[in-house]
Amino acid sequence: MTNEPAVVFEATTKTYGGVRAVDGIDLTVRRGETVALLGRNGAGKSTTIGLLLGLDDPDGGRVSLFGAAPARAVEAGQVGAMLQESRPVPRVTVRELVSFVARTYPSPLPVAEALGLAGLTDLAGRRVDRLSGGQVQRVRFAVALAGNPELIVLDEPTAALDVEARQAFWDSMRGYARRGNTVLFSTHYLEEADAHADRIVVIDRGRILADGTSEELKRAAGGSLVSFDLAGGPTGGLTLLPGVTSVEIRGDRARLHTADSDATVRALAAKDAIRRLEVAPVSLDDAFLTLTRPTLETAR
Ligand SMILES: Nc1ncnc2c1ncn2[C@@H]1O[C@H](COP(=O)(O)OP(=O)(O)O)[C@@H](O)[C@H]1O
Ligand SMILES: [Mg+2]
Repeated sequence: MTNEPAVVFEATTKTYGGVRAVDGIDLTVRRGETVALLGRNGAGKSTTIGLLLGLDDPDGGRVSLFGAAPARAVEAGQVGAMLQESRPVPRVTVRELVSFVARTYPSPLPVAEALGLAGLTDLAGRRVDRLSGGQVQRVRFAVALAGNPELIVLDEPTAALDVEARQAFWDSMRGYARRGNTVLFSTHYLEEADAHADRIVVIDRGRILADGTSEELKRAAGGSLVSFDLAGGPTGGLTLLPGVTSVEIRGDRARLHTADSDATVRALAAKDAIRRLEVAPVSLDDAFLTLTRPTLETAR
């Protein structure tokens, strides 16, 4: 048993035609972590996951899983995956399907355990083609777990699910993570990354823009939002106030992102012409928009 990290990307790139789908990614996922890869559609999440699983080879850089080439870790059953594309649903029972997949691995989970973790115990005898969308996702999760992998990779696992099915799915994922396993999932829902990951990696245009806890991301984007009515006062000079990282004016209201709200507010108080002052922590939404905005602008 080695102590290698679960996942290591080093300066990894992947280009499709003229598109740099993955543009120099450095990322380490330690064993036992639950990491969210957060980005909009087209950000490069699925390409990153494809490289991680050895489904595709990088043009540059290196990817390793548990200190070895991805294909080796996959063959050894160290990795399980739920990919984004969906295949036709087979006409066998849930238990038959999971048992079949388990038998292809060297040291699989007992089938009852895989079904239990995925919340499928009561549906084990049901035909897979007679399940709801949420239940099918749980079957795909059980299939990913069947080989008793140490790392599970989930590409937008809840994209098509309703709120209730989503909750059930994340409960299953957490049950698996609690056993000391490593989880990497992609999502374009901020709330999911915030609620279900220890660490969030923000990806945009194939690059990692931020990497940390949601608190760290909020700080990286400017820790607080100071807003007030301009009351006819001047807007020039606001960017120069202490702590301020960005300024937005909407109608008569100014919104200042600041890394030091105390200093910003003191400086503002010295000015007279402000009304209805509010200080609030930035939301993760604000942080995400701030972090991804510069890349969008340079692209135009
Ligand atoms: N097989 C492919 N051929 C051509 N372009 C691709 C291919 N796969 C992905 N891309 C492009 O690479 C970029 C990243 O795509 P993808 O990794 O699927 O993003 P995400 O999963 O975050 O939505 C997109 O611009 C997409 O159009
Ligand atoms: Mg994708």
